[in-house]
Amino acid sequence: MDLDAIDREARADLGRAASLADIEALQSKYLGRKDGRLTSILRNLGTLSPEEKKKVGQRANELRVSLETDIAAKRQTFESDSLQKNLAGQKIDLSLPGDAFVRGTAHPILSTIREICDIFRRLGFSAVEGPEIETDQNNFTDLNIPANHPARDMHDTFYVEPAKGDTGAPWVLRTHTSPVQIRVMKQMSPPVRVVSPGRVFRHEATDATHAAVFHQVEGLAVDENISFADLKATLAFFAEEFFGPKTRVRFSPSYFPFVEPGAQMEVSCFACGGTGRVPTGDACSICKTTGWIELLGAGMVHPQVLRNVGYDPARVTGFAFGMGVERLLMTRAQVRDIRAFLESDIRFLGQFQ
Ligand code: FA5
Repeated sequence: MDLDAIDREARADLGRAASLADIEALQSKYLGRKDGRLTSILRNLGTLSPEEKKKVGQRANELRVSLETDIAAKRQTFESDSLQKNLAGQKIDLSLPGDAFVRGTAHPILSTIREICDIFRRLGFSAVEGPEIETDQNNFTDLNIPANHPARDMHDTFYVEPAKGDTGAPWVLRTHTSPVQIRVMKQMSPPVRVVSPGRVFRHEATDATHAAVFHQVEGLAVDENISFADLKATLAFFAEEFFGPKTRVRFSPSYFPFVEPGAQMEVSCFACGGTGRVPTGDACSICKTTGWIELLGAGMVHPQVLRNVGYDPARVTGFAFGMGVERLLMTRAQVRDIRAFLESDIRFLGQFQ
């Protein structure tokens, strides 16, 4: 019978098979879909008489299953042999250096903003943001800087061309983050405790310490019985957290139309500990021997500003402060030129990781 012959031949072929290629050839010779020898017999079962069909069909199917099983087993042996051979031929040197993976990080200004907001968050301040294109009203007028007030000269302002029929005009690129104070106070009633970080714009000639685009963080607290002592304690805490323990602060009078009294805050120089001389005895170049570094503007919110937003200055008081983020980081990290933060030089930025 044909089937016995096929069985014998297939077993002999299987016994001789010496490679994966032999196995593939064998598979197609007997079980190939198109003209495999066993496949042809199975395909032609229909031409046989019913008894023969049953007999031949059963035997042919048994043979197919057993051949498939034996071929698969032999294939597996060859496959694992070849894998073993491959592995034996390869050596993995675990001491070789891996591929360097360059990872991006937040820009130092962004991480400093996060750090500053985080320090104030611990004191109960939440962070809010405002728009960079602001109304003249919020940026100046409601902050007690009416049109033609000489204090407008303190900020060289970029004005934004209004669209035709625009009733909100005039618009400016905000010159500080203080207009966010106005927005917050117009939206919520006291108590208020917010910090607002963001980008600000001034039409200034750029030099090592002045940029036309830089960042500020504003702070505002309004409630009953808020005093200058609260302002001092809040900023003293911030200075110690940002510059390190034992940092001292001092305030001196300064003028901002939206606060009264107004102050500027200095911190004791962290490089020389406020002595003006570094341990080698040389003059301290960070504070230029004064022992102090000027840091930010602050003060008690002017009663007129409180009235402008609908608060009652007889009931609530508040303090506010505003700091330049680039200048803070320049001071702490001893960066000499503010423009380095804008130039995206990875060698510079990478030092802040
Ligand atoms: C203000 O902008 C006030 N709004 C701050 C304020 C808020 C005072 C609340 C009182 C109460 P001033 O113009 O001094 O103030 O700017 C604040 C800080 O921004 C400065 O201390 C400085 O660190 C930074 N700064 C100002 N101009 C520039 C500039 N051109 N480039 C980089 N940083 C600047």
